[in-house]
Amino acid sequence: MQISPSILSADFANLQSELEAIGNADWAHVDVMDAHFVPNLTLGLPVVESLLKVSPIPIDCHLMIEDPDRWAPPYAEAGAKSVTFHIEAATDPVTLARNIRGQGARASMALKPGTPFAPYLDLLPELDMVLVMTVEPGFGGQSFMADQMPKVRQVREAVAKHGGEIWIQVDGGVSASTIEQCAEAGADVFVAGSAVYGADDAASAVDELRALASAHWHA
Ligand code: DX5
Ligand code: ZN
Repeated sequence: MQISPSILSADFANLQSELEAIGNADWAHVDVMDAHFVPNLTLGLPVVESLLKVSPIPIDCHLMIEDPDRWAPPYAEAGAKSVTFHIEAATDPVTLARNIRGQGARASMALKPGTPFAPYLDLLPELDMVLVMTVEPGFGGQSFMADQMPKVRQVREAVAKHGGEIWIQVDGGVSASTIEQCAEAGADVFVAGSAVYGADDAASAVDELRALASAHWHA
């Protein structure tokens, strides 16, 4: 059970201390948005390179960008240990995932709420993680979409059949009140932005989320 707080809800003027505040988490989730794939703009490679120098924990890059075939591998090359591209934006996902792995990172495919998993089943051997979005990508603080839980179950079944260590991440509206159903459905990596950075104590929120997820793990 891994917790990956999203720094989208952190104080962007103080990102180093915001990363240090979640030093007990497993990953720091960094949302890269390009104002084309999603209607919001956040940060890009130069900022990620700076974050990598100071982060006490590995960085999990969630790229909500057009043309990930071209722009995603440099994040792995820079040192992000997990790089997620959106399948809706990828042209050649097999080559893309191989390029990410070739740079020493875990390769991950994200699915927007309206994107089914079944057409991409054959990609599993190329992947280290599948991200099932539980909000429309673009903004923090949105309501959790419980209607994505059947997709999480479907990915979990496919991963169990396939074997190997493929993680299942959920992202969007994950909090103390929604994390249990994600864990029951088979997710094992949990992104939380507002639930962590909106809490009085971010580190305690991370511990609480991890405990809730562990208590409700489906297996
Ligand atoms: C949304 C981002 C999420 C977001 C989650 O497009 O991918 O990572 O920061 O924020 P919360 O947990 O507040 O929904
Ligand atoms: Zn994200």
